[in-house]
Amino acid sequence: MNIANTPGHIPSVQEVNTPADWKPESWQDFPALQQATYPDQEALAAALSELAELPPLVTSWEIISLREQIAEAQAGKRFLLQGGDCAENFRECSSPLITNRLKVLLQMSLALVHGLQMPVVRIGRFAGQYAKPRSSDLETRDGVTLPSFRGDLVNSVEFTEASRVPDPQRLIQAHSLSALTLNFVRSLVDGGFADVHHTEYWDLSWLEHSPLADDFHKLTESLEQSLRFMEIITGRDAGSLRRVDFFTSHEALHLPYEQAQTRQVPRQWGWFNLGTHFPWIGMRTADLDGAHVEYFRGIRNPIGIKVGPGMSPEWLAGLLEKLNPAREPGRIVLIHRMGESKIEECLPGLINAVHDTGSPVLWISDPMHGNTESTGDGIKTRRFRKIMREMELAFDIHRANNSRLGGVHLELTGENVTECTGGARDLSDQDLKLAYKSTVDPRLNYEQSLEMAMQIVRKHARQT
Ligand code: PEP
Ligand code: CO
Repeated sequence: MNIANTPGHIPSVQEVNTPADWKPESWQDFPALQQATYPDQEALAAALSELAELPPLVTSWEIISLREQIAEAQAGKRFLLQGGDCAENFRECSSPLITNRLKVLLQMSLALVHGLQMPVVRIGRFAGQYAKPRSSDLETRDGVTLPSFRGDLVNSVEFTEASRVPDPQRLIQAHSLSALTLNFVRSLVDGGFADVHHTEYWDLSWLEHSPLADDFHKLTESLEQSLRFMEIITGRDAGSLRRVDFFTSHEALHLPYEQAQTRQVPRQWGWFNLGTHFPWIGMRTADLDGAHVEYFRGIRNPIGIKVGPGMSPEWLAGLLEKLNPAREPGRIVLIHRMGESKIEECLPGLINAVHDTGSPVLWISDPMHGNTESTGDGIKTRRFRKIMREMELAFDIHRANNSRLGGVHLELTGENVTECTGGARDLSDQDLKLAYKSTVDPRLNYEQSLEMAMQIVRKHARQT
């Protein structure tokens, strides 16, 4: 059994030197996929130097604290919840959207803490999730071909020539909006966000529609009781019991943007990406000899790696060797996203290959990205049933292979959108037209997200 997965053993974060042949810009000597092509290189250089002078979004000690929490999760002592939009956009940097997204994530994490009886590492896909990988550089509509939309960090979604030209000023704007988002999240979290701790304010009307209504009612009742109990014994409002930690993450896709935020700090060795706590490598940019892996090799942040059905055991072992040669605990989170029809075939070999390397990892499941499909009307959706099934299979497969599923990665929003079908209210293909807002991938809505958290608790309870 992998030492890192042995409950009870919590390794500390050790000091390891930055590779001697690495610099924040060394990725530029490697092939970089999924990059924007800027027509005005001088304007790009000016924006990047401005960005490099701006204050950082996060601090090195927060990053180190997240590494410690991930090391604890690797030791079986925490569960990790990572969630948020597929892509943030500039228009939606607003109070209700940020509040509702944070609220649903906190409510989910409370259900998980209570149901799993362990602390949760909370990571938002926000404050910088503005760049998107695309399957093609160009998009054609009615005979007109334009550059693809690469996320608000790069260009604008409208299908006009002017909108699709990559604009370097967007890099500055993304940084500012990330700072605004993070500032508001920090204030909400610091203030205790008290109503999150009172289940009477949760919108639980969907429970009545669930075949598991009884189970879920019991969970929320016992959660409520234990929060009350805490209030009685401490004499304080549960909302202010303990400041919760909340971390940020995004796909570190746009390498010039990431480089500009890669800094050294006083009294710390090595380099940090101070634009986010937890950058991840997307499935399309995980080439062993590519620029993204080169960039990630030298930063001290904990890093996520998306693992898709096309990844071979040798490739994955190679990534661990390159990205974590000293086998540091708390460094690597493997986010598998296979699809419910492929996970049984693809995952066991990868789990065993990672065991054989002896490298400590935290495995988490992204049951969203392998389960995207189109309806008869051409609407991109995901079926709640399939998302659930992949998540349940992930728990079972890890268990059967002497490993542990230590978290989930979900695309979700706190709004009542209709983008994924199914769930307790059994949304149909027709319902998708009611409130479909995403310009990229379909997200779980408020109710479906809470239901997913409760399903995780239920699955976990059946296993222990
Ligand atoms: C995503 O997380 O939005 C994404 C594009 O994922 P992947 O790289 O796994 O396809
Ligand atoms: Co997505």
